[in-house]
Amino acid sequence: MSKSILITGGAGFIGSHVVQLFVEKYPSYKIVNLDALTYAGNLENLKAVENASNYYFEKVDIQDALELEKVFEKHAITDVIHLAAESHVDRSISDPLAFVKTNVFGTVNLLNAAKKAWEGELDQHLFYHVSTDEVYGSLHDGGFFLETTPYDPQSPYSASKAASDHFVRAYANTYKMKTVVSNCSNNYGPNHFPEKLIPLCINNIKNMKPLPVYGKGENVRDWLFVKDHARAIDTVFHQGKAGETYNIGGFNEWKNIDIVRLLCKKMDEKLGREEGTSEKLITFVKDRAGHDLRYAIDSSKIKNELGWEPSLQFDEGIDITIDWYLVNEEWLDHVTSGAYQDYYQQHYH
Ligand code: NAD
Ligand code: DAU
Repeated sequence: MSKSILITGGAGFIGSHVVQLFVEKYPSYKIVNLDALTYAGNLENLKAVENASNYYFEKVDIQDALELEKVFEKHAITDVIHLAAESHVDRSISDPLAFVKTNVFGTVNLLNAAKKAWEGELDQHLFYHVSTDEVYGSLHDGGFFLETTPYDPQSPYSASKAASDHFVRAYANTYKMKTVVSNCSNNYGPNHFPEKLIPLCINNIKNMKPLPVYGKGENVRDWLFVKDHARAIDTVFHQGKAGETYNIGGFNEWKNIDIVRLLCKKMDEKLGREEGTSEKLITFVKDRAGHDLRYAIDSSKIKNELGWEPSLQFDEGIDITIDWYLVNEEWLDHVTSGAYQDYYQQHYH
């Protein structure tokens, strides 16, 4: 049977790379991108595939159960890859309920729509839930997050993602739905909305604006190129074992301040500025409330069992990323006009 895959959140950062990969690599699959087009959703991310004959778009909010049911019926959906979410930790601190509505309530709606559409044949369809390493909490004493690490979410964002992970596993246990969950570390690359650290700094360096570093910049994140995450999702979707969890990461830990300095150095070179010019923009600002100290993923399981590993070194990936933002000025102008300016004023001033 050919597949008709519902990819939620396909107009966002990671979702757009997943949609593009699936549309181009699997012409016999029907790919249905379902997205509410919030501030983070942008159909410009999908220009490369918008006219492909196996690509469909549905503007639907996952909080709307009736509309979800209609999409399952209309496209005879066989499988789901669920990425739609509110994804920014700082926004979750100022508006936690928005995260409950989309990440928890929306995920349960989607599970219900899938369960109803696949009644009597739940073992023949896959519900793949894309999640984050933040559900495991913060590492203070060394070590890595394993698939067996107990959940210990610390922000409203990670609490809402943890709740959604629990619901997916509860549907697998209770209704015997075929599910798989993956938990990934920080992604970077093209199409990343400039509220997140790396694209925000690239945009501000370009415009000679202050680079807001929370606290002392000592917090550590584990960075993975977004196309490598999309490849990992492809691998888990096709080869992952039902009921399993896979951690995805690049064994690539960086202190925030070191990432910001690296971006300054590389962009001074690329923009022909005198060395040290951009570093002067670094501004230490009030720390994020409850700021997780360190994330680090052990991705041995997906490597050993499914053969996935990152294809790009960080140095290469960050060059591709900076160059993409410098070339795609129009994209950056579009997403930083209007509502972005209000958010920026409110959050940083
Ligand atoms: P993003 O914010 O860039 O995109 C989210 C997309 O979901 C947007 O297109 C938005 O319009 C859509 N959306 C939001 N609310 C919706 C709703 N109620 N109904 C339908 N669509 C809605 O997010 P991202 O960074 O691409 O993350 C995608 C997924 O991957 C999320 O589930 C996130 O938790 C997870 N994740 C992200 C990272 C990362 O570093 N960005 C790492 C690990 C896991
Ligand atoms: O670990 C995976 C997670 O990574 C995903 O689940 C989230 O959706 C994604 O947003 C990301 O969360 P982070 O909070 O780690 O990413 P962010 O880019 O917001 O911040 C990275 C680090 O940089 C973090 O320690 C906070 C810091 N920071 C961030 C911003 C926006 C700053 O110092 N200054 C800033 O202005």
